[in-house]
Amino acid sequence: MNNISQLIFLLGGTGAVAEKLKIKPSAISNWKKLNKIPNNKREAVLKLSTHLDLDIDNFLTSNKEHDAKIKILLIICGGIASYKSLEIIRLIRKTDIELDVVLTKSAQKFITPLLVTSLNEKKCYTDLFSVEDETKMNHIKLARKPDIILVAPTTANVMAKLACGLADDLASTILLASFSKIILAPSMNPVMWNNSATRENYKKLLDRGIEFIEPDKGEMACGEEGIGRFPDPKLIFDYILSYINKNQTLNNQLKGISILVTAGPTIENIDPIRFMSNQSSGKQGFEIASELTRRGAKVTLITGPVNIPYPNCENIIRVKTAKEMLDNVNKQLPADILICSAAVADWKLIPKTSSNKKIDMNKKIKKNNDNLLFETIKNPDILETIANSTLRPKIVIGFSAETNNLKKNAYYKLVSKNIDLIIANDVSNAKVFGEDFNEVLLIDKFNCEKWEKQSKKSVAFHLANKINNLLINYNQRDIDA
Ligand code: C5P
Repeated sequence: MNNISQLIFLLGGTGAVAEKLKIKPSAISNWKKLNKIPNNKREAVLKLSTHLDLDIDNFLTSNKEHDAKIKILLIICGGIASYKSLEIIRLIRKTDIELDVVLTKSAQKFITPLLVTSLNEKKCYTDLFSVEDETKMNHIKLARKPDIILVAPTTANVMAKLACGLADDLASTILLASFSKIILAPSMNPVMWNNSATRENYKKLLDRGIEFIEPDKGEMACGEEGIGRFPDPKLIFDYILSYINKNQTLNNQLKGISILVTAGPTIENIDPIRFMSNQSSGKQGFEIASELTRRGAKVTLITGPVNIPYPNCENIIRVKTAKEMLDNVNKQLPADILICSAAVADWKLIPKTSSNKKIDMNKKIKKNNDNLLFETIKNPDILETIANSTLRPKIVIGFSAETNNLKKNAYYKLVSKNIDLIIANDVSNAKVFGEDFNEVLLIDKFNCEKWEKQSKKSVAFHLANKINNLLINYNQRDIDA
């Protein structure tokens, strides 16, 4: 995420900033793309950010070349292996990667800030409450700057702090305040590593998308044997390089592909106060929009009203009703791919009296309307409409939330709506709405895959892989034809 994207994200997202500044969301998308805010809008952006404790100049005076470099923050915790991380610093310093280093208090018992500063030829950070550091490079800036935070060695203590969300020193505060990829390289006594508390923390962190470079098996400095040894620093360095390479490939995977994603619920007003809607949080759709953006796609997210932060993507359009959603999807066509993850309200409710007279929906309906009735009017099915239109995107993907006969109902939708892929989930216990996890079936005309329970982020990651494969097959079909 570049500086301006981060700033827009912190200010509430593209849609919210566009609305507050009364400009088009596409203008904000351009700022994010160019990583630059035009001079005549800086004042307005400054005003929007007054309530945030940010060094706004740092965001506004971004330097593109500088931003193009991969940035790593190495956090060294206090363990017997701390000294081995000096070799990681040496190896990273031979590359083009920009490196900052934080030492925990315990790490300073093994290696000194002076040693790290000499090796990295740069200030080494140690203190959350340093007046000098806070003015020049505060902990939030340190947390936001890197693409990757490598914690090596990671102690059981820091794993536990991160799992619980504790922030009582510089390292743990940075870890909590960061959007970056976090990679942990734990090293500890084998009994500590196998302790059920550490095992639970490990699992929790994995579920949150934190990556581990597993410790080695062997003889420990304390004389005991087992799993817990710090891996060879060169292996850790190679792991980080391969992560960067893999990501750079992924980042361009969907370059040039335009994707429309619908997300969240839609709402239908009954009167100026009441409305009909559903429990969709928008989380799954937002994760999908975010992952596809990360892979280089030009994503337009069309979302109903939600209470979660907007993702970083090219364009965000906020709508309320099913009709507004359909109109906006239509406006954005043609596109290569349509993903309908929105839970669109299937009906509008028209209030009527028992004698079938319409009630004015522009005024609050009074309680003395004893026999209030509702006529239902079916909303347009966006997915079906677009999938059968002349501007049908190459790939159309839908969602299916069911309380019974999941597979059968989802398959029926796939065929009847003429779509390529459907992601189905069982919502009979309503444990999906608003949660961070999802358990889905992925159904196309020939296959049904079960994806075990995983984070919505992970579902988005795997769906992006699937989309990439579908595009490859699609293009191959084009060549063969
Ligand atoms: O038929 P059902 O509403 O269950 O289908 C769910 C799928 O259809 C979802 O992908 C949802 O986004 C889409 N849908 C739609 N327009 C509607 C209703 C559902 O696009 N009015």
